[in-house]
Amino acid sequence: MDLVLHVWRQPGPGADGRFVRYEAKSVSPDMSFLELLDVLNEALTARREEPIAFDHDCREGICGSCGVVINGRPHGPQHATTACQLHLRRFRDGEEIWVEPWRARAFPVVKDLVVDRGAFDRIVQAGGFITARTGSAPEANATPVPKRDADRAMDAAACIGCGACVAACPNASAMLFVAAKVSHLAALPQGQPERYDRVARMVDVMDAAGFGACTNHGECMAACPKEISIDVIAQLNRDLLRATLAPPPEGKAWTGAA
Ligand code: SF4
Ligand code: FES
Repeated sequence: MDLVLHVWRQPGPGADGRFVRYEAKSVSPDMSFLELLDVLNEALTARREEPIAFDHDCREGICGSCGVVINGRPHGPQHATTACQLHLRRFRDGEEIWVEPWRARAFPVVKDLVVDRGAFDRIVQAGGFITARTGSAPEANATPVPKRDADRAMDAAACIGCGACVAACPNASAMLFVAAKVSHLAALPQGQPERYDRVARMVDVMDAAGFGACTNHGECMAACPKEISIDVIAQLNRDLLRATLAPPPEGKAWTGAA
């Protein structure tokens, strides 16, 4: 199939960017979208032109690094599919495709299609952990987890940190991502000791990073390749309210303002 690509080219952070038109001729419909960019980059390199910078790692929908906006939709037109798992057969022969980076103040463009998602790392550093004794592995049955709680935790843990929820949100809110991390640990016994401290700290860092507020558009859930439900945001709001209003346990203070 033949495709025409309009790719956002930006030489560096803060530099002016623009769409550049490229033609891809006789490409296989079985190629992934990232393989199309690979083929395009080989042609650019052969012509001694600067290849297109884009993020990728696993190419299996696991690592969350391959986020790009394709024809106005984070990760492209296929529901619940990362850009690396999107195949060209989803497009029409001769179609024109616009490719651009995530657009959010908290995700500044590094180059071309690559953005700095370090804000997500800082949020996880603030609370995406539990405190546990090191040493030998605990007996597997020592901490029983009801099936319903295990399922809720697993559903939230499916978040790959790609940032599509932020890119899709008109407010560039990171609430779905943060709520997935909060809900994952809040559903498990291991996550209880730091539960309310965690949510206060993660929301503080989220706000400081420049993400917008959640106004319940639901675009995040529609764009999420892992189908994280906005139910997790309700969980975050409940825990944040508790962290704000309820007194902390004796001898302990919630850190971070809510
Ligand atoms: S909630 Fe979904 S869209 Fe947002 S970072 Fe996680 S996997 Fe990506
Ligand atoms: S490259 Fe890892 S999720 Fe796409």
